[in-house]
Amino acid sequence: MSSELSGKTAIVTGGASGIGRATVAALVSAGASVAVLDRDEAGLNAVVEEARKSGGKALAVGIDLADTAKIPDVVDRVIGQFGRIDILVNCAGVTGKFQSLIEIDEKNWDFVQTVNLKAPTLMMKHVAKHMIGQGGGGRIVNVSSSSAFRARNSPIAYASSKAALVQLTRSAAAELGPHEINVNAVAPGITATGMTRALGDAEALQRAASSGPLENLFHRVSQPEDVAAAILFLCLPSSRQITGQTLHTSAGAVV
Ligand SMILES: NC(=O)c1ccc[n+]([C@@H]2O[C@H](COP(=O)([O-])OP(=O)(O)OC[C@H]3O[C@@H](n4cnc5c(N)ncnc54)[C@H](O)[C@@H]3O)[C@@H](O)[C@H]2O)c1
Repeated sequence: MSSELSGKTAIVTGGASGIGRATVAALVSAGASVAVLDRDEAGLNAVVEEARKSGGKALAVGIDLADTAKIPDVVDRVIGQFGRIDILVNCAGVTGKFQSLIEIDEKNWDFVQTVNLKAPTLMMKHVAKHMIGQGGGGRIVNVSSSSAFRARNSPIAYASSKAALVQLTRSAAAELGPHEINVNAVAPGITATGMTRALGDAEALQRAASSGPLENLFHRVSQPEDVAAAILFLCLPSSRQITGQTLHTSAGAVV
């Protein structure tokens, strides 16, 4: 365990699985106390137990982020427990149905935009208010996707939500800069998580990373820890001069 984030508190949405789970582990091992927000209660309990076993402090908070009216209370509750908030990682996300433009139904569109864009916006709004009030700056990292930067082989509602998240990151960075709050995004490529299980087994993922529209320069599937390392970097004191940027963790799938 390092101590670079010792005394800092963080919220990670979608922390019960995949990239979020690896991010919780990375932040805890850097010394932060982490509130893990997710709708998956069993996953939440497992990740919090994991953090505690490693000597860290983590808090499980069950919430369905599609129910955005609950966000202000949940943020207040976490800050009530931790006393302050220094880091927010918006990692929860859904692909929704794999629909093309002419197939798209409004229910699916609204669901994807709510979880992938509206919930992160409201999380940022309520967390940033606290960060500004408490002083001392803060770090926000939004998990976008390489789908935001290419037009083939991504469900259109998903790709659009992730592209909007990149601009949300830039606009929020401009607004929150005077308060010393850094706002950045990461854009993962194909990563072995619960989300990509829908694409097939490990061999299918490897084929996708090696050729076709999701291909990357190393022909390598990312692991959740590869993305978590970039998120952690954007939360560390050493990245203090970086804001409004999107860090691509897709092994060059987007160059
Ligand atoms: N896996 C990839 O290849 C990949 C690529 C690019 C971007 N991403 C992004 O990375 C992020 C993390 O996804 P992952 O790949 O780790 O997938 P994952 O399915 O393993 O994890 C997603 C987590 O978000 C939670 N979640 C989803 N909807 C929620 C809701 N309404 N309320 C609360 N929690 C909710 C899930 O319960 C789960 O724990 C997502 O934003 C995803 O879009 C993933």
